[in-house]
Amino acid sequence: MSVQRVVFWLRQATLIGLCLPVLYLAWRWYIDELGARPVTQATHITGDWAVVFLLCSLALTPARSVFDWMPLMQIRRRVGVATALYALLHLLIYVADQKWNLVVVALEIVKRFYLTIGFVSVLALAVLALTSTDGWQKRLRRNWKRLHWLVYPAAVLAIVHFFLQSKANVGEATVAAGLFAWLMIWRALPPKLARSYLGLALLAVAATLSALAFEIAWYGLVNKVDPLRILMADIDPDLAPRPTLKVLLSSLAVLVLVGLRRGLRTWQSRRKVAALAGCVLCLGIALGEGPEAAAQELTVTQVVRLYDATVTYPAPMWAATEAERLDAGTSHRQEEKDQIIIEEIRKTETLHNWTQMLKVVGSRLPDAQQMAVREALDLSLASHLAACDEDDFAVEIFEEHESSVTFVVACGNTPNAPQELGYGDGIGEISVARLFLVKDTLVQVQYSWRGPEFDYKDSASFPVPLATVVQAAERLEAAG
Ligand code: HEM
Repeated sequence: MSVQRVVFWLRQATLIGLCLPVLYLAWRWYIDELGARPVTQATHITGDWAVVFLLCSLALTPARSVFDWMPLMQIRRRVGVATALYALLHLLIYVADQKWNLVVVALEIVKRFYLTIGFVSVLALAVLALTSTDGWQKRLRRNWKRLHWLVYPAAVLAIVHFFLQSKANVGEATVAAGLFAWLMIWRALPPKLARSYLGLALLAVAATLSALAFEIAWYGLVNKVDPLRILMADIDPDLAPRPTLKVLLSSLAVLVLVGLRRGLRTWQSRRKVAALAGCVLCLGIALGEGPEAAAQELTVTQVVRLYDATVTYPAPMWAATEAERLDAGTSHRQEEKDQIIIEEIRKTETLHNWTQMLKVVGSRLPDAQQMAVREALDLSLASHLAACDEDDFAVEIFEEHESSVTFVVACGNTPNAPQELGYGDGIGEISVARLFLVKDTLVQVQYSWRGPEFDYKDSASFPVPLATVVQAAERLEAAG
């Protein structure tokens, strides 16, 4: 299935998945199946789903990273908006329960702490949903990201609200808190560790211990229960599955799924089956402006020595002949400790205002021989990510071989990159690069285009036609 279709069906399936709980609730209410107190029951059901979707929305970034599946970013907004809608419905049903008496509702919210924090959480979620549109994103620019940090305190408040209203049995709230801990600890881990099996195993332990700590703290502080009794209950098979076990099993399920996903991926790439994943960025690559159209004979090449490697690489995209390469371009060479960087730009541009660049980087790494291509890719992507706004960032693997990888990185905005080199808020960059190892040298040959900030999901907004990006990827692949 083409990537475009995958994204389409993923979005439709998500929409259906998000609507099903409320439709099922409405149906059960309609056929009078919600028990003696349908309104209370409906309050509980909508509250539960609001928390589930809130956790799902926070899980999408880690899921994209560990499963290496970019389409997940395409459903983030709708899951977030659904969270806010379920929370608002939950509040609305509560208001209905109070016979629509808004004065009573307001007094209750002021009087009862668990309702006060629930209200603050609803307000925050509503603001996030309202400002989730492209228009607001553009209007608020960097402040948009700052504003959307509100999701973390909103989630903490929602979970505390969950605990406080649970009274005697905080089982479900503990599971929610344990999973939330997983999501937060994942964010705090170094990116490389967070993607590794070791990192995921450590996370499983940390999230389970967090759930245990929440449980002990709650029962200890509120019900004065001895922590040892809770610990014994948690390991008593007759009482299984306890919340801590549920958190452990969920965390281990992530580990197993990641293993399956990576295994399948390796198998597929070995058999040269079409790439599994893709963001909208690669749609153009996979569809219309496909590689066949872009394949072009390589006439001009250049050679450079980088530590252990003698690299023959294609000419800049602006040069069709050798003379043109020399006439039209200038080359800047920079040598630092264990790294050589050669940047070629057009003669008419400077390192501050370039729009097209051919860059060759050689990095000497002591452990290069032990390094897998994917590890080298992670290393390279880390530097792209450091410069880029994470929400405006997409990466797609064009071709992956045993000892090399060609990939496209779209960075819609570069607020964190050095301004003295012409980057900054409002400037975007798209690059296609080939990465390979020669003895102890990691080599990256990269074409880059720079221009005004763009939307990585919309190839029409790129600073260069997608066909040219594909052509560049083809050139790099053809260079062997
Ligand atoms: C003004 C805002 C809110 C009000 C008035 C409110 C009200 C309530 C009430 C009355 C209950 C049931 C308490 C009981 O039965 O004793 C409840 C439970 C719950 N609420 Fe809220 N809530 C609000 C906000 C939120 C938000 C923002 C979330 C999550 C995002 C949330 C999630 C939950 C959950 C998970 C439960 C427990 C459901 C269960 O036990 O199965 N609430 N809320």
